[in-house]
Amino acid sequence: MADLSRLFNPRSIAVIGASRHPGKIGYVILKNLIDYGYNGKLYPVNPEATEILGLKSYKSVLEIPDEVDVAILSIPANKVLDVAEDCGKKGVKFLVVIASGFAEAGNEEGERKLVEIAKKYDMRVLGPNIFGYAYTPSKINATFGPKDLAPGHIAFLTQSGALGIALMGWTIMEELGLSALVSLGNMSDLDVIELSRFLAEDTNTKVIAIYLEGLKPGTGRKFIEEMKQVTAKKPVIVIKAGRSSRGQIAVSSHTGSLAGSGRIYDAAFKQAGILVARTIEEMFDWARAFSLLEIPRGERTVILTNGGGVGVLATDAAEESGIPLIDPSTELKTAIKKAMPWFGSARNPIDLTGQALVENYIEALEILNESPEVDNIILLYCRTAVLDPVELAESISKLKSKFRKPIVAALVGGEDVARAIKILNKNGIPAYPGPERAVKSLAAVLDYKRYLDRKIGRTI
Ligand code: ACO
Repeated sequence: MADLSRLFNPRSIAVIGASRHPGKIGYVILKNLIDYGYNGKLYPVNPEATEILGLKSYKSVLEIPDEVDVAILSIPANKVLDVAEDCGKKGVKFLVVIASGFAEAGNEEGERKLVEIAKKYDMRVLGPNIFGYAYTPSKINATFGPKDLAPGHIAFLTQSGALGIALMGWTIMEELGLSALVSLGNMSDLDVIELSRFLAEDTNTKVIAIYLEGLKPGTGRKFIEEMKQVTAKKPVIVIKAGRSSRGQIAVSSHTGSLAGSGRIYDAAFKQAGILVARTIEEMFDWARAFSLLEIPRGERTVILTNGGGVGVLATDAAEESGIPLIDPSTELKTAIKKAMPWFGSARNPIDLTGQALVENYIEALEILNESPEVDNIILLYCRTAVLDPVELAESISKLKSKFRKPIVAALVGGEDVARAIKILNKNGIPAYPGPERAVKSLAAVLDYKRYLDRKIGRTI
């Protein structure tokens, strides 16, 4: 397995093509690196400049009086090969090639030569045709996307540049914490397999989410075998674009990959233990659950709610997704009855009713947490005038360290409910604005648990 530690923990980064002009890609990348707080050494390279953004600039990478671990090349494609040669001579370890204009645009020859030069000097290449990469533990934002990234445990690999950049902003808004964000581009050298294998060993990453359009021809078998090694260690979620016949044509002109039939990919993903999400929202919902939860000990699940309707919807979704809902024992029902008015229901879904208060939820949660019949809890809440959602979220968050069982939550309502969802997420309880999203996220976690139990013979 390739050692990519100096790509993600570089001692020094050169930005070749660092521009003096705000708005140009080479300017934004350097500025993002500075603003996001990379604390290794940063070397702008530009033959026309002596200083950029307050940093001394060098005419060529060869002039830098230091070792360079990573060189980010933000120069046009026709200049990349010469600069790659210089980087090789300099002893650079990783080339991050932003430029478009290689295989995706019919310039296979240029891309082949780039990889050839890299091989000659023992360098590895990320790209070309990428928006860069980020790794939050090292405070690296070497992208031309937004300057901020929420740190966390989701590694996101994307074959789409524009979508990747757009989703950077979205992850901030949704408070989805990222460990790594990598633009895959043409995958001339480093590909989704090698990056996933490295991230599987990365202690800052708990889940790998991938936007994939296609694999290079002839790499399907390798993908399955190597990704099995990855999924034995970390959950992997893929969203595969180009499932439809027209989508496949669109893919070939986007990254030059072979989209292949959706069914063939699904079979490969299944063999490799990869979870397949159908929408971006679903991928990140699941990634959120994986990043915040431990793998459950078992599958027996209860639904706790203050609203009958959401309870029924969650029940339907649980049954559809193969989550076993328990029938509580008489003993458990008797205990839980104390947390609700006489007209509540202690069956599953457990309905605390619309008059439930914070203390009713807390009491019920404590009972469920102690019960040997229960492995997982789906907590639902509908906005009522008698229960402030923010107060509920804060109270539950305070108890978080006591909970030994995975809890996923769905809170339905308006603005203050959105705030409560954020509080829960911040405190390590995956929370969603609808019951189905919470249920399906737990289902994904249980699917992965079953995979581990089956394939790896895991015992806990
Ligand atoms: N070494 C170092 N610096 C150099 C060199 C060199 N050999 N040659 C030129 N430069 C400097 C230039 O002087 C310039 O600096 P300045 O602005 O201060 O004058 C800077 O490097 C950039 O060079 P330009 O020729 O101005 O190139 P430009 O910034 O216009 O474009 C880029 C370079 C961004 C790589 C472009 O060619 C490109 O490929 N753009 C597409 C990127 C992209 O979309 N990637 C795909 C994924 S992302 C997505 O899909 C959204």
